[in-house]
Amino acid sequence: MQILMEGAAILLFSLVFVHNSYAAELDTISDSRFLTNGDTLVSATGIFELGFFQPGSSGNRYLGIWYKKISVRTVVWVANRNHPHLDASTLELKIADQGILGLFTNTSMIWSSNTTTTTGNTTAKLRDNGNLVVIDQDEKVVWQSFDYPTDTLLPGMKLGRDYLRHIEWRLTPWKSSQDPAPGELNWGSDAIGYPENKLRKGSLVMFRGGPWANQRFSGISVFSKSLTFTYDVIIDENEVSFSYNLENSSLLSRTTLNSSMLLESWAWVENGTGWQRVVYFPRGECDKYNICNAYGTCSINMIQQSCSCLDEKRFVPKNQKAWDTANWSDGCIRRTPLECKNGSAGFIKYSNVKLPDTENTWFNMSMSLEECGATCLKNCSCMAYANPDKSRSVCLLWFSDLLDIQVLPAGSGGPDIFVKMAASDLGSQSISKDKGGENIKIILLVIIPGVLLIGLIIATSLCYARRKRNHAKLTGEGDVLKASKGQEEDIEQPLFSFATIANATSNFSPDNKLGEGGFGPVYKGMLEDGKEIAVKRLSKNSTQGLDEFKNEVICISKLQHRNLVKLHGCCIQGDEKLLIYEYMPNKSLDSFIFDKTQSVLLDWTKRFNIIKGIARGLVYLHQDSRLRIIHRDLKASNILLDYDMNPKISDFGLARSFGGNETQANTERVVGTYGYMSPEYALDGLFSIKSDVFSFGVLVLEIVSGKRNRGFIQPENEINLIGHVWRLYNEGKSLQIIDASYAESCHLPEVIRSIRVGLLCVQQNAGDRPNMSSVILMLGSEGELQEPKQPSIFTEKPVVNYSSSSYTAGSTNQFTITEVDAR
Ligand SMILES: *[C@@H]1O[C@H](CO)[C@@H](O)[C@H](O)[C@H]1NC(C)=O
Ligand SMILES: *[C@@H]1O[C@H](CO)[C@@H](O)[C@H](O)[C@H]1NC(C)=O
Ligand SMILES: *[C@@H]1O[C@H](CO)[C@@H](O)[C@H](O)[C@H]1NC(C)=O
Ligand SMILES: *[C@@H]1O[C@H](CO)[C@@H](O)[C@H](O)[C@H]1NC(C)=O
Ligand SMILES: *[C@@H]1O[C@H](CO)[C@@H](O)[C@H](O)[C@H]1NC(C)=O
Ligand SMILES: *[C@@H]1O[C@H](CO)[C@@H](O)[C@H](O)[C@H]1NC(C)=O
Ligand SMILES: *[C@@H]1O[C@H](CO)[C@@H](O)[C@H](O)[C@H]1NC(C)=O
Ligand SMILES: *[C@@H]1O[C@H](CO)[C@@H](O)[C@H](O)[C@H]1NC(C)=O
Ligand SMILES: *[C@@H]1O[C@H](CO)[C@@H](O)[C@H](O)[C@H]1NC(C)=O
Ligand SMILES: *[C@@H]1O[C@H](CO)[C@@H](O)[C@H](O)[C@H]1NC(C)=O
Repeated sequence: MQILMEGAAILLFSLVFVHNSYAAELDTISDSRFLTNGDTLVSATGIFELGFFQPGSSGNRYLGIWYKKISVRTVVWVANRNHPHLDASTLELKIADQGILGLFTNTSMIWSSNTTTTTGNTTAKLRDNGNLVVIDQDEKVVWQSFDYPTDTLLPGMKLGRDYLRHIEWRLTPWKSSQDPAPGELNWGSDAIGYPENKLRKGSLVMFRGGPWANQRFSGISVFSKSLTFTYDVIIDENEVSFSYNLENSSLLSRTTLNSSMLLESWAWVENGTGWQRVVYFPRGECDKYNICNAYGTCSINMIQQSCSCLDEKRFVPKNQKAWDTANWSDGCIRRTPLECKNGSAGFIKYSNVKLPDTENTWFNMSMSLEECGATCLKNCSCMAYANPDKSRSVCLLWFSDLLDIQVLPAGSGGPDIFVKMAASDLGSQSISKDKGGENIKIILLVIIPGVLLIGLIIATSLCYARRKRNHAKLTGEGDVLKASKGQEEDIEQPLFSFATIANATSNFSPDNKLGEGGFGPVYKGMLEDGKEIAVKRLSKNSTQGLDEFKNEVICISKLQHRNLVKLHGCCIQGDEKLLIYEYMPNKSLDSFIFDKTQSVLLDWTKRFNIIKGIARGLVYLHQDSRLRIIHRDLKASNILLDYDMNPKISDFGLARSFGGNETQANTERVVGTYGYMSPEYALDGLFSIKSDVFSFGVLVLEIVSGKRNRGFIQPENEINLIGHVWRLYNEGKSLQIIDASYAESCHLPEVIRSIRVGLLCVQQNAGDRPNMSSVILMLGSEGELQEPKQPSIFTEKPVVNYSSSSYTAGSTNQFTITEVDAR
């Protein structure tokens, strides 16, 4: 992802502003008008103000620019950082000889703009974007403060270099809150290779922003305001520069670098708590520059080890012994070294990466990806190529080992990189070099344990669709199955041959295994047309019979909605029963919301989308689908996430369909999952669409709080999360449940609304719970919500006779209880 901006000191420390009863507001400094202590220069519409200030208790005076209108004094620029002055009464800012803007004491000039003009007739003005400009009589800007940033990058300010004027635009933090002098750190771009920002401490690189791209960074919402950042990138022989702007220019935003090496972007929220941090870098261990060295990638999915080789099929640690002891200083090397021979190499594409360090690169701003690949193939020292900027055809070639690569979370929209490999490492879909780039096939696969460990949670498979019609008959005949016609409708469920699936999963290779559920292993596979699939292979001794299996297939295949996981087909051959699902790269919701490191990847916007998506999926199940289904086992581990973090409800193993007028049914044996079961269901076996609503309410509270309902650690002897939320809600403190991992991004009105809706859904009395279509209306509107009553905070009695646990990635404290005997 793009650098997203840069950040630094939140200037919330006290600045002492000297009050002077004779203070005047000027709009221009000219030959005849100058600024003395207490006077300020104000921008046209009063957004920014320039004057003298004193940070902390140092007693030193500085000339600086801050926001005039906002209550928290926030200095964005300082003139005489290195030359403070103690005696305010003698300071004067005026136009001096040759049109220079100078800061004078009674004895000397301690700071000046760097311009000389021949006319000597210049004026200084503060613009509404915070830029102090010195202009000549033709209104030409001869000097501007934007060319000399301090610790703050305002919208419209540039980072980078001006080769004509020999100016380098970069941020340097204040030494401390009392001392605006520049510290050791700086955030700026190098003069060689494709430009990107680096955070350096002296000459040491600490963090890298990644190559520049003209991109848009949106979807951040700071309370009621949605911010969209746009980036401007200029790369030519005269200038390389990177700047950002807000789509809504009436919002205030700034990006700062502080002396603790933190880059932060802020937005001002008038009616909130002032400056809200929107984004910050570096974000953790994996952002440390080059932590994994050549061809290594740092992964936050791994708990014990943070580095792995980019692709373990094709790269190995250079020094395995050291690697095993978590010494990654030697990085990885190709299994097969490159030979500089015609036809001996091709490329493997890796997606969603932070592109490697661009110090040793060459680039062309107008070259197609195909030409780019062909150029790289021809040059023996070229190691990889990529287009860093989706908005145009940039060709970027690397001429050294690839350093500081990072595989980004799926769905983050990171760029692709094509890494050169020896022909023998290319696999079957190698590239024919002579045919040029057109043939460059996507051979992908970033194999990182953990990323591929998908929580495909498909538990058991008894779909009790009470379907009188269209009961399809599946008959096994050798390799391929055929579906015979139902009485009234065709079952158009693709049937796969066992050979096809065995082939797609490399013969159920352990490498392809995603996980193991109670009913057998789940494998990742790729069909010949490149489609990724997840295959559930029911173990031969599974209690699930052929009829139930067929029922699930038929039941799920009837359900088509973008918030339900899609079944592509099935396969039955002899003892083998396989279900073929769409592949979900982002595991299940529980692996995000309950996990410390993963949860930061779900900001509020994503969480709220997930809540709404699940609600839509349930409306479909309850009302809109042909079958009308009660899911009966809705829980975080049954919500799978696609590339874009869209939720998909999975596991219809326990689902029951009900007739048009039926809304409630009774079962002898209670099945479901602890913590999500409604009281009437757990105690009396009564289930209805309102028992799904109850589970949904629990899910909403879990998404908001990042805590499990069951197994919740109670500070106040509360039985579970619901009880905890209810107490806080009554005390008017419900916002305390907001999970810290997304607090920065949260949109309070939506959070408050979600908590309310969550509580309404977990009401003791099923009749008091809204149905799912009202839930959608409540989440989407601004109107008043009904006041929740005391919710159900009972805990379920233990239920006997469970047969299996569902497969979930890493969660052990929940299990699904499954009805074993069929109807
Ligand atoms: C400058 O001002 C300081 C204090 O206001 C005073 O002590 C000093 O004599 C002045 N110097 C000159 C050269 O006027
Ligand atoms: C003015 O220019 C000189 C030389 O070009 C440079 O060393 C100095 O840092 C500049 N000062 C300011 C305030 O821009
Ligand atoms: C300087 O500029 C002012 C305003 O633009 C103008 O009135 C004045 O004549 C100019 N003086 C000289 C010496 O050019
Ligand atoms: C821009 O922000 C202002 C202030 O919050 C708001 O009033 C205005 O509606 C916003 N404009 C757009 C186009 O979103
Ligand atoms: C830098 O910013 C972070 C977060 O805003 C803060 O915790 C830290 O104290 C700041 N460092 C300095 C030296 O101000
Ligand atoms: C802030 O919000 C409160 C209520 O939410 C409102 O009464 C007040 O007028 C708002 N203040 C401003 C400055 O918008
Ligand atoms: C890591 O391994 C390298 C040799 O591969 C060695 O030179 C270096 O000292 C090791 N570092 C540590 C911290 O052990
Ligand atoms: C590679 O082969 C092509 C044609 O097949 C030829 O034009 C080119 O010169 C060869 N390059 C090298 C380095 O051998
Ligand atoms: C960039 O590539 C284009 C297309 O191949 C070519 O016309 C142009 O000369 C190249 N520019 C540079 C600076 O190499
Ligand atoms: C390969 O690229 C490098 C770097 O641009 C260049 O110095 C070298 O001459 C190129 N080699 C060939 C054979 O084109």
